[in-house]
Order: sequence, then C-alpha cells, then structure tokens
Amino acid sequence: MEKFVINGGNKLYGEVNISGAKNSAVAILPATLLAQGICRLENIPNISDVTVMLKILKTMGAKIKMINESTYEIDTRTVTSFTVPYELTKHLRASYYLIGALLGRCNSARVAMPGGCNFGGVRPIDQHLKGFEALGATVTMEENAIVNTVADQLMGNSIYMDVVSVGATVNVMLAAVKARGLTVIENAAKEPHIVDLANFLNSMGADIRGAGTDVIKIRGVTFLHGCDYSIIPDQIEAGTYMAAVAATGGDVLIKNVVPKHLESISAKLLEAGADVIEDDDSIRIVSTGELSKCNIKTMPHPGFPTDMQPQLAVALSCANGTSIISEGVWDNRFKYVDQLVRMGAEIEVNGKVAVITGVDHLNGSPVKADDLRAGAAMIIAGLIAKGRTEIENIIYIDRGYENVVEKLRAIGADIERVTFEDEPSNEVRTAG
Ligand code: EPU
Repeated sequence: MEKFVINGGNKLYGEVNISGAKNSAVAILPATLLAQGICRLENIPNISDVTVMLKILKTMGAKIKMINESTYEIDTRTVTSFTVPYELTKHLRASYYLIGALLGRCNSARVAMPGGCNFGGVRPIDQHLKGFEALGATVTMEENAIVNTVADQLMGNSIYMDVVSVGATVNVMLAAVKARGLTVIENAAKEPHIVDLANFLNSMGADIRGAGTDVIKIRGVTFLHGCDYSIIPDQIEAGTYMAAVAATGGDVLIKNVVPKHLESISAKLLEAGADVIEDDDSIRIVSTGELSKCNIKTMPHPGFPTDMQPQLAVALSCANGTSIISEGVWDNRFKYVDQLVRMGAEIEVNGKVAVITGVDHLNGSPVKADDLRAGAAMIIAGLIAKGRTEIENIIYIDRGYENVVEKLRAIGADIERVTFEDEPSNEVRTAG
C-alpha cells in the first residue's frame, strides 16, 4: 500500500503544467467505439481512471497504440462484443458511458453497473435510462445490476432532463449521434467536458449543435470516421492547484489551462483575498496565505463546481471569519469534514450546508482520502498544517491527479509517496 507524507508550512513558488481533463477523457475514450476508423487522441492524462478505461476497451477487442505518454491511437473496428462484465466496470463509475457508446454503435449494450459510491448516497441513472428509452431502446435491469439496452433502430426524439446531469447528457449524446433524425436534449449539462465530447464527435463527422448551452441538438448521421483530437485541460486539477497556492501562500503560474473554464473558481479565490491574474492559456495565483471568509454554493456549470468544494473548504478552514458552503449537486459530500476536524478545523455540517469558522492553524495528522476530491482536500490540508500529515487511501487521488507528488514538489511542497505494509482489503473502490 502507499500513502502520502506531507510536512506542512511551505509556501509554493514556480510553475505547474495542467494535464488533460479526466472527465473528458473518460467520455471520449468510450466514444471511440462509434468511429469506423482510427482516433488519435492527444493530451490524455496519465491517471488510473484512464488506464482502467483503456484496459476495458482493449479487453473488448480494441487495438490501442501508445504514441507517447499522453497520445494514443485507438482502433475500435475490431471490437465484436457488446457485453461488459462487472470485473471490468467495477473500478470506474464512468464505465456506464459504454452503454450509450455501444447502443449508438450497434443498437445493443449489456453493461454491468459500476459498484460502490463515494458520496454516501445513491447515484441514480434514471435520466440516462429515460433518454435511451426516448430514443426507442428497451431497457431491462438484469440480475447483478446488468443494464441491458436494445433497439431495432434508434430514433431521434426530444428529451427533457429532470435534473441537470453530466452523465445522462453524455450518455444520450453517445446513443443519439447515429440515431435516425433529430434528438433535442433540453436542460442539458453545460460543463466544458460536454462541449469537448461534442467537438470530438463533430470531428468524427457528427452533427451536434448547442453543446455548452442547455439545449443540445443532435442530427443523426450514418457514419463516423476516425479523427485526430486533443482533449481540453483539466479544470478541476487546475482549480486544485489554485486553491493550494491560495491557502499556503506563494506565487505560482498554472499553465495549459482555459481561464474561462476557471471563472467561478477564480472569482471565489479573488473574493477570499488571493490575486488571480489571467493570461491566454495560464493563470497566475499570488497569495499571502491569509484568506478572508467567503460563501460558496456549488451548482452545475457555469456555477461553482462541486468537484472543487472540498478543496475550498480546506482553504477557508484557516480564513479570517465564518464561511458557509452549500452543496447544490450531491446529497452528501461532506464526509471528509471529520478528517479536517481531527486536524483542528471548526466545521459544523447540517445536511447540505457546512459552516466553517476559520481557525489559526491546522495540525498535521494521519487522515485518509474518502474519495478523489476529498483526497485532494487532504493534500491541501497537509500543505497548510503545522507538522506531519499522512494520507492513506491515495488510490483515489491517483485516479484523477497525474504526477501530483512530482508537480507539488516542483513548486516547493514537502510531500512524498511512501510504501507501507497493510492487511489486504476486498473493498472495491469506485471513483469519478
Ligand atoms: N442524477 C439523477 N439522475 C440521474 C443522474 C444524476 O438524479 O440519472 C443526479 C445525481 O444524483 C446528482 C446530480 O444529478 O445529484 C448530478 O449528477 P451528474 O449526473 O451530473 O454526475 P455524474 O455524471 O455522475 C459527473 C462527474 C463528477 C461530478 C458530477 C457533477 C464524471 C465522470 N463525473 O458525475 O465528478 O461531481 O458530474 O459535476 O464526469 C469527480 O471528478 O471527482 C467527480 C465525482
């Protein structure tokens, strides 16, 4: 097993290069199943969620050639199966994108639902299934949570999403791209990775308009060819480094970002007292480490992203004054607060609201990553705490942050990855 050991207190200086977006990559990789040709994908992050998705495609029969660490050529013409068993899906939430992609490819998909849940509650997929049914698929839930979807011919339709869902928007786009006629998704998610997926599909010959607004129109095409495509930078990885610098203090240039994707995060860090200087494809954060209170409500894009909520909570835990964070996307995303309280933070959680009273400092402590972003928050807590913090369960962090130790050490953090012996666990951990 491995853990991170951090000696807190260092300010951060230098430059960080941001990798490709995890949540784009895990949607675009299954989308290659729709192409009748080779897709060359650049800026693929080297994280374990991507490794798992590549392994799933390979096991299904795809030919995958690694050109360099972030570039792959994927040929799915050799895929014959439309069944994906639990052994393959269990480690990755986003494996449910294989349903939409296979349905779009061959009108049939049998995919086991990924197990586990990181946020304490159920993560429903009713909107995904409603979308498939609206396109004419018959959906049945088989034993062992296998979703079986089948259609003679998918037909375009109007689909109103009852909740704004990234996953359902992606899945319906994948299924509808080759359906006959026009599909209109209303109340669609607007995240940058939705636009990235639409751009990728359009590069393959699809006809998708309106991605990035709440109405997406997809006119079905009969053929999608291979293409060359570069994935957008990871908004949440960038935001995590921005929050880390704001909290520790220092001066860091965060490179290879789209500043527009980071507006809601920049706005909150500015409000809390950090300087945020935008350039074309970089953002510089300058901070004394002395932050002021601010209130945050997480919302679907372009609101403040829920995937940055834990990192901001840490930054505000030592701010001057009382901050209120309201979680507007997930029912339960404050599990990590117990760990912060053990480090000396004063945080009261009441349902979907956390009240954070800024304290003078946090104390280093043994903690664990409860999920990917909670793990990122623990890193920031370790960086600002007095003394030594050890973070276990870092398997979650490796799923979404490429070379996090190397990137943080390069800007002055005292963090290392340490191997240790432990009892083997049968727990299945699912991320994303
Ligand atoms: N929802 C439903 N029914 C559905 C689908 C979703 O009620 O059929 C609800 C959910 O319970 C939740 C809300 O809608 O309350 C939003 O869920 P969404 O479907 O948008 O989330 P997701 O697609 O499962 C993606 C990201 C998450 C991120 C959320 C919200 C990927 C692979 N995952 O999840 O990212 O938190 O959108 O932005 O794209 C992460 O990267 O750490 C992560 C968890």
